[in-house]
Amino acid sequence: MTEKFRTIWTTSDKYVEVIDQRKLPHEFITVKLSTYKDAEIAIKNMTVRGAPLIGATAAYGVYLAVREMIEKQLDGTFLDEAFVALRNSRPTAINLFWALDRMQKALDEADDFLMTAWNEAGKIVEEDVETCRMIGVHGLPIIEEISKRKNGNVINILTHCNAGMLGCIEWGTITSPLYQAHEKGIKVHVWVDETRPRNQGSNLTAYELTRHGIDHTLVVDNTGGHLMQHNMVDMVIVGTDRTTRDGDVANKIGTYLKALAAKDNNIPFYVALPSTTLDMSIRDGLREIPIEERDQNEVKYIHGKRQSDGKIDSVLICPETTKASNYGFDVTPARLVTALITERGVCEANEKGILSLFPEFQ
Ligand code: MRU
Repeated sequence: MTEKFRTIWTTSDKYVEVIDQRKLPHEFITVKLSTYKDAEIAIKNMTVRGAPLIGATAAYGVYLAVREMIEKQLDGTFLDEAFVALRNSRPTAINLFWALDRMQKALDEADDFLMTAWNEAGKIVEEDVETCRMIGVHGLPIIEEISKRKNGNVINILTHCNAGMLGCIEWGTITSPLYQAHEKGIKVHVWVDETRPRNQGSNLTAYELTRHGIDHTLVVDNTGGHLMQHNMVDMVIVGTDRTTRDGDVANKIGTYLKALAAKDNNIPFYVALPSTTLDMSIRDGLREIPIEERDQNEVKYIHGKRQSDGKIDSVLICPETTKASNYGFDVTPARLVTALITERGVCEANEKGILSLFPEFQ
């Protein structure tokens, strides 16, 4: 990678900076979040997105709320309101609630509110970097094994959405094993699902793979099954927004169909996740994971760069009056998941497997 960057950083104690991911891949624009409302809006409108990054942004949102409360001499109800607003910013990724609970706990035990909030948010960010690096360390042997089996020929990996560094802080979850394999000289080629409607695949995954110099091909979301039937996929690896105690996996809408096709074609289907994405309080993903529904215009309009003059624009792709539904996520049942790749190792997608690596969740 030519120039190293993170997805969230601080250069002042007055604001936190993020990349406006809605503008990628055509423009690299950074924005300053100066209030908790800025953080709330950035999560809602997907300036930032991806489970770990949503959590980190919410954590800094709490810091910004504490700062504003002290500066304006407001009482504790202001902070309570900030927690509620941040909690309501997006429903599916558990990292959001995990980060807010962690910030709340730190503040409950704090003498110096401002310093505590600043330090805790910073720790959440640093820990995610190391966690994702370790997901790569544990995922790498899986790729090495396939490479050996293929006598060093190119490994074809299919992914859906963006569970790369852009969804985290650095490394990414699914990309960490890929980047580490690439650094070791293993030949990797990635099939990138475009991921309608927000196109995280074409806008973000393709962007970061390009920056890392990783060979990839963009495909429309419906292509995966065909590729798998024709022996053109060696493994599927996706991220997750919430994984239950029994190993059910919520991820970007369309993930379930990839898992079904992988099962039918005997192709391993891996899910890479930090333990912060585990929701050990629920078991049945289908019934218990809240699935976000977003604005219908995200489906009705396509956003991109005009071929004619290079200007960024949105175009309507259906009759004006046609209504659209926009489910953000679906749930892949544990039985379709080959294994979970975590920062502590690889395990089966079930309670026994998860507890073997994370006994503290007993
Ligand atoms: O709607 P998004 O872009 O926030 O959805 C992101 C995903 O579904 C990712 O796969 C998931 O959050 C994992 S990011 C490491």
